[in-house]
Amino acid sequence: MPAPTRCQALTWLAAATCLLQPVQADGTYRSRPDLSPPHLNITIPCDGRCEAGYLFVAPFTGYADPVDHGPLQAAPYILTDEGDLVWSGFTYFSTWSGNFQAARWRGRDVLFSFEGAHNSLHGHGHGHHTFLDQDYQTIRELRAGHNMLSDKHEFIVLNETTALFQIYHPIQMDLSAYGGTPEQTWIVDARFQEVDIETGKVLFEWRSLDWASPDETALPLPLGQAGIGHNSSTAWDYFHINSITKGDDGHYLVSARHASTVLKVNGTDGSVIWRLGGHKSDFELGPNVTFGFQHHARYLSGGDPVPLSTTEVISLFDNSVYGSESAGGGDKEVHLFPWSRGKYIELDHAAKKATLVKTFHPPNHSILAKSQGSLQTLPRGNALINWGSEGQITEFSTEAGEQPIFHAFLDSGFLQDKLQNYRAFRYNWTGFSPETIAVVAEHPRPGGGGGAQLDYHEGDQVDSSAVNVYVSWNGDTVTKSWRLSWSQEDSSTAVVTQHAREYKRTGFETAMRIQPSTRALVSGVRVEAIGDHGRVLSVSDPVEVGPAAPWTQPWQPRERKGASASFDGHNNQQPLLAVGGRAVRGNIFK
Ligand SMILES: *[C@@H]1O[C@H](CO)[C@@H](O)[C@H](O)[C@H]1NC(C)=O
Ligand SMILES: *[C@@H]1O[C@H](CO)[C@@H](O)[C@H](O)[C@H]1NC(C)=O
Ligand SMILES: *[C@@H]1O[C@H](CO)[C@@H](O)[C@H](O)[C@H]1NC(C)=O
Ligand SMILES: *[C@@H]1O[C@H](CO)[C@@H](O)[C@H](O)[C@H]1NC(C)=O
Ligand SMILES: *[C@@H]1O[C@H](CO)[C@@H](O)[C@H](O)[C@H]1NC(C)=O
Ligand SMILES: *[C@@H]1O[C@H](CO)[C@@H](O)[C@H](O)[C@H]1NC(C)=O
Ligand SMILES: *[C@@H]1O[C@H](CO)[C@@H](O)[C@H](O)[C@H]1NC(C)=O
Repeated sequence: MPAPTRCQALTWLAAATCLLQPVQADGTYRSRPDLSPPHLNITIPCDGRCEAGYLFVAPFTGYADPVDHGPLQAAPYILTDEGDLVWSGFTYFSTWSGNFQAARWRGRDVLFSFEGAHNSLHGHGHGHHTFLDQDYQTIRELRAGHNMLSDKHEFIVLNETTALFQIYHPIQMDLSAYGGTPEQTWIVDARFQEVDIETGKVLFEWRSLDWASPDETALPLPLGQAGIGHNSSTAWDYFHINSITKGDDGHYLVSARHASTVLKVNGTDGSVIWRLGGHKSDFELGPNVTFGFQHHARYLSGGDPVPLSTTEVISLFDNSVYGSESAGGGDKEVHLFPWSRGKYIELDHAAKKATLVKTFHPPNHSILAKSQGSLQTLPRGNALINWGSEGQITEFSTEAGEQPIFHAFLDSGFLQDKLQNYRAFRYNWTGFSPETIAVVAEHPRPGGGGGAQLDYHEGDQVDSSAVNVYVSWNGDTVTKSWRLSWSQEDSSTAVVTQHAREYKRTGFETAMRIQPSTRALVSGVRVEAIGDHGRVLSVSDPVEVGPAAPWTQPWQPRERKGASASFDGHNNQQPLLAVGGRAVRGNIFK
């Protein structure tokens, strides 16, 4: 077994800083040769069973070997259930981004994403949150208050007004009571803030060390799994908050991953109202309730003021494992269950009992997510689970048992290996593209064939005067059809005529065919975006017709060649891009 590279020893997100991956474009869309969106590998298609809305993901590169692992363009994406692109956010964020969602802020539909840097040792982020409007313009960059840096894990907009997020804050203290040597003096005070989004004013701040002792941890300092405490970058991350929400009762629901505990925190004085799980649970845990290293705790039922005699139901993503994504386990890895699950847990405050209400098992019981993950309960009751470090998403129906009705790997071919995605969501979204309509017009390649995406019409004759037009408009969700117009010069009479034809939009990119009568020359191709009621939304620049570019080969899944994939996913052999789709294109040139 080869010695692990420096990058392999790191925890999740470490990758991005390890990797100097060049920006790769892959020709998925002929009109946008600069983009390489993720290609969903859908193993269970929705078939009409999924809830309405788009998928919101922000896949990022795994770890280890440079240029080995996908995605080629790590960024926030909006995708359809078929894996078609709606919006590539690749050029909209300057640094690593994640936890990408839609929300409402002061009556407006917005998108937000964490944007910032990673600490390569502990998998936290240091940055801010960027809000985009429906035109994909930045309308707010929200920073943490009190001169601290926001972390990437949680960000939730409450009541269209305030935001909750957390802060990774290392401090120094005597840790001898927790097994620390004189060199081990750094610990992470896990903090969170509620901030007014408009003004940035801090309305509430909570510091874990004020209320949760280091001995609540599931990852004791001497074992060194969560930082060895030598300095601020290796501070012992004993608590690790990764989700926070607020109930209508004004109290906070907090997930502390490294204490395997979910807590309710008093929104007035910060005291802990109850703990679920961990060493100090206030509830007796019923069969299969026990969870560990969980993510994304949310209220399912209300959050209404809960008299102690009633019940609350919460949802969470139970990883049930802790360990480095890349290391093969060893004595530092903690396993509580063979696979990760989504759970609905009912808390009976009178009886002090926690009962499992629903469980969402991964397809084939096959996914153990060592890090990350989310569980979104959709408006009509389906549940969308994101399997974090394993780069897969599943939608479950909750009607007849918890059945998977959609499953996808977030990329295809070798790019899916070790691709990670922190959270995934489904939202409705209306977006207006700020970009110019992208149009490519080209003569079909000799021998016919215009590519997989071209919509051939019955009876169409492909000859040398035919023109294929490809059009897309990144982020636009309102165009219903494309009106194509062009000039046509008859080569024998030199008479020029104007033509127009409207085509129904078929997806991110629509392929159209102009087939003039023989020996006519097509020029000045323009496209108008037509919305509801025939309204013209935008007009492209005119483009001239070029020869079919040899590289406009439809995108193909790349295959892993010359290297065997292991569960650990690492191979130190040839850079795989050299044998992927790009090399195939290279051959076409010859
Ligand atoms: C939500 O915001 C509205 C308007 O700002 C305010 O009246 C209301 O009290 C807020 N509700 C909560 C639960 O904070
Ligand atoms: C922090 O501690 C780690 C582990 O002992 C060490 O590798 C690293 O160089 C230290 N960083 C600094 C800035 O001293
Ligand atoms: C929350 O704290 C306030 C102020 O200390 C206290 O009056 C209230 O009873 C607490 N609520 C709960 C549910 O513990
Ligand atoms: C607990 O989980 C195991 C494994 O999935 C299952 O066989 C068992 O039926 C579950 N028990 C309950 C009470 O849910
Ligand atoms: C589950 O197993 C089936 C049959 O082996 C396979 O076709 C399918 O792709 C697997 N699904 C996942 C998500 O691994
Ligand atoms: C899709 O994923 C399955 C399961 O990992 C894999 O066997 C298959 O090769 C993938 N398909 C493509 C096109 O990448
Ligand atoms: C999207 O809108 C439809 C129609 O209003 C609704 O049924 C669906 O639940 C919405 N989806 C999401 C994810 O909010």
